[in-house]
Amino acid sequence: MSYPYQIKSMEEYQDAYRLSIEQPELFWANIASHFKWKKAPYGKVLNWNFEEPKIEWFKNATLNITENCLDRHLAEYGDMPAIIWEPNDPEDNHRILTYRKLYDKVCQFAHVLKNNGVKKGDRVCIYMGMIPELAVAVLACARIGAIHSVIFGGFSAQAIADRLYDAQATFIITCDGAYRGQKDIPLKSVIDDALIGNRTVQKVIVCTRTRTPVSMIKGRDLWWDDEIHKVETLGLHDFPAEEMSAEDPLFILYTSGSTGKPKGVVHACGGYMLYTNYSFVNVFQYQRGDIHFCTADIGWITGHSYILYGPLSAGATTLIFEGVPTFPDAGRFWSIVDKYRVNILYTAPTAIRSLMGFGLGPIQNHDLSSLKVLGTVGEPINEEAWHWYHQHIGKGRCPIVDTWWQTETGGILISNMAGVTPEKASWATLPLPGVQPILVDEQGKEITESDDDGIQKGNLCIKFPWPSILRTTYGDHERCRTNYFATYDHLYFTGDGALKDADGNFRITGRVDDVLNVSGHRIGTAEVENAINMHAGVVESAVVGYPHDIKGQGIYAYIIYQGNHGDENLTRQDILQTVTRMIGPIAKPDKIQFVQGLPKTRSGKIMRRILRKIAEGETENLGDITTLLDPHVVEEIKNGRLV
Ligand code: WTA
Repeated sequence: MSYPYQIKSMEEYQDAYRLSIEQPELFWANIASHFKWKKAPYGKVLNWNFEEPKIEWFKNATLNITENCLDRHLAEYGDMPAIIWEPNDPEDNHRILTYRKLYDKVCQFAHVLKNNGVKKGDRVCIYMGMIPELAVAVLACARIGAIHSVIFGGFSAQAIADRLYDAQATFIITCDGAYRGQKDIPLKSVIDDALIGNRTVQKVIVCTRTRTPVSMIKGRDLWWDDEIHKVETLGLHDFPAEEMSAEDPLFILYTSGSTGKPKGVVHACGGYMLYTNYSFVNVFQYQRGDIHFCTADIGWITGHSYILYGPLSAGATTLIFEGVPTFPDAGRFWSIVDKYRVNILYTAPTAIRSLMGFGLGPIQNHDLSSLKVLGTVGEPINEEAWHWYHQHIGKGRCPIVDTWWQTETGGILISNMAGVTPEKASWATLPLPGVQPILVDEQGKEITESDDDGIQKGNLCIKFPWPSILRTTYGDHERCRTNYFATYDHLYFTGDGALKDADGNFRITGRVDDVLNVSGHRIGTAEVENAINMHAGVVESAVVGYPHDIKGQGIYAYIIYQGNHGDENLTRQDILQTVTRMIGPIAKPDKIQFVQGLPKTRSGKIMRRILRKIAEGETENLGDITTLLDPHVVEEIKNGRLV
């Protein structure tokens, strides 16, 4: 069974697209009528300007997203699996939570939050592994109207401390530890370190997973199970969902930009719900009963939108996998697909490339015939990986959706719709209804020229709001404006470069700002530099990206180091340790080159263009270096380049 607003043909796509551009308010009001509102979305659908920016969708309507993700499915689909959970170790038991069960658990935990003083609008930080209780925690926050801020389990105590401070978070939900492949990450202990000196957090709720020893601080730390037990003893069941304005914040998710400090991207309840649902149903062509497996971590936007809110609001069955693709062996994804008869697989190009490296052996003993749709996200997919995925995983019969979007966009903006609109290897293809992308030059002028093949090239902007566009960056609206809306007048600037062909298809070529995309993780170069510069021996550093076969981009750091190294490799280890402490292992440079100086202009600006070229292996055509303060440093850097 499909959905009334599911697009079924190219003609329907074109009609929907046209209507969404000519009458966006009517278009989205129609979609909104398929959801459960407390106060229906009558009246003005959209108020907006990109100058402040101010964006309001269905401002007068009220709702609770969890009623859309849970309550409204109970009568008909209560016994259907909402979540299938596959543990890290395939020998352990899996778990299935039906919609009824998930509803009960979310209500229970909402009581726990309430009993502990959590109120609407409070910021709750969630730092957990990929277990069903993470979904329960997220949804319970939404039910009570608290703003969740999920932090990926790979971030360090310092990174968490910064985020807790920025969000002024008052509660934390965590686990004793998390399993990831062979590793056991001591989450609670990281939280304890993050809380040294913290003045806002009142309580920490700890869910048991790994039985790692933890220290529980009196008056602050509580066990999840004890709190649930209290609720059971009190006989508490249903939890009335808090009435939220469509524009109330649903969550904050921190992401990297070109400046040093991560930004708290804020999404609003109503528009986010509409758009994640609409894009989920249309891009993946989800049919009731399909099993949807998105391999992302819930700590990233992909997990928020396409493991939790999109699928659950559509009454889908979503698979949560605790582990990693290579544990216990490189056939793990395929064994999961086989075990649960997965229909939709959504993963990152970096995972595909790394699994390609293991050859066809790990695929062979698994039946992948249940697959109908494949998807990719997070970075450009190279043609080789696309064809491998298509041929060996999809056996040539599954469409691949190449979905382009960002933390800030909330949902997929540019993608083909599986089997409905044409696919083109390594092209994200067409904008979804409601999305109006344009390419501009450095001055913000719309590109009109194309090359001999009819291809246009420029910086990717969006000129009209869609429902799940970010509303602000937490606590600093001006930062939201300068980051996204000030580069070009009247446009949302994505930070990405793109190509557009004569048929209107888009190919995203990568970031044009100082943001790296390492294994699909967004990392700001300035953030990594700040971390490196914390090391006592470092005078200055410059970080750039370089092409990496598996990760897409690798991190290359040029470092001016004070005094004697002793052993250079030990110094490298020390610096890596510092980055791990300040941000987390995901931001560790792949290469560190010690240099005497950095190429700077006379005004003191580092010329990254040159450093990027050298890191890429280009040593001849470095462009104009005559404006450099000291052109000799370039020779030295070239000679010392690491291969
Ligand atoms: C990149 C992830 C090419 C892009 C959902 C964007 C992509 C950044 C694609 C956002 C794609 C994402 N093709 N590049 N299909 N999808 N990107 O915020 O550079 O973690 O700006 O959101 O990933 O990363 P984020």
